[in-house]
Amino acid sequence: MIGRVLERILDAQSGWAKPLGDRAHGWAAAIFSRILPIRDFLAGTWLGHPLHALLTDVPIGALTLVIVLDVVGQHAAADVALLIGVLSMGAAALAGIADYSTTDGKARVRATVHSSLMVVALVVYLVSLAIRASGPNDRSVPVVLSIVGYLVLASGAFVGGDVVYALGNMVDRHAWRPSGAKWQPVEVGEIPEGTLVKAKMGAQTLVLVRSGDTISGLHDQCAHAGGPLSEGKLADGCVECPWHGSRFALATGRRERGPTVYDQPRYEVRATAAGGYEARRLS
Ligand code: FES
Repeated sequence: MIGRVLERILDAQSGWAKPLGDRAHGWAAAIFSRILPIRDFLAGTWLGHPLHALLTDVPIGALTLVIVLDVVGQHAAADVALLIGVLSMGAAALAGIADYSTTDGKARVRATVHSSLMVVALVVYLVSLAIRASGPNDRSVPVVLSIVGYLVLASGAFVGGDVVYALGNMVDRHAWRPSGAKWQPVEVGEIPEGTLVKAKMGAQTLVLVRSGDTISGLHDQCAHAGGPLSEGKLADGCVECPWHGSRFALATGRRERGPTVYDQPRYEVRATAAGGYEARRLS
């Protein structure tokens, strides 16, 4: 019930969030497309996990502490916690913008609401910090501002969680894919040398590439956001996704370039005596 009401409230924000998000996304994508290694670092390809999700814990923890310390009268410690919170918000925002540069559709609209709330929270916290730094006068205004900032921050965190949990952004598209080494028939026509070929294996769709007698197979749905790899291109022994350019090694399925932080399911493919093909999942 509460979830549906919140869903409706969030959907109602698309009137302003969509045009703002499209514009902000255009800027973010233009900047990060020129610095792909930095974008991938911020996305968390080196970690195998979205970095933004990890970094957001720091400001939320520090800014919770600000309220507790202010309430118990430890204002100097609260000021330090606030400074840590503000600085770590900046770091989390950088990683978030990197993710945002490859976020589309409804997730982008919702991520725009999330980031707008975080910007408001950050401004409120900065004002609180500036007043605290200006002298040991009446603490009531900066303390109230910290509480207001926290409420906005919590709302932003809720919406950010929604982007992941309700809309599946930055979630491994193969998290529920059944593993298993059972050979299954593959429906496919010709597999010409060095060409991406789409194939069916039961309910799964694969992308196959022939190199001599060897046929490499990956799942066709990109681990990042589900792009069709068979519509991408071959580059340096990898398949490159047509949507945001993630690259997966044909031989291993390993991510070689982000924004994906996950590897791609890999399949062993062999010819059958009847002249067809069969495949099984390896990783
Ligand atoms: S869907 Fe984003 S890189 Fe493939």
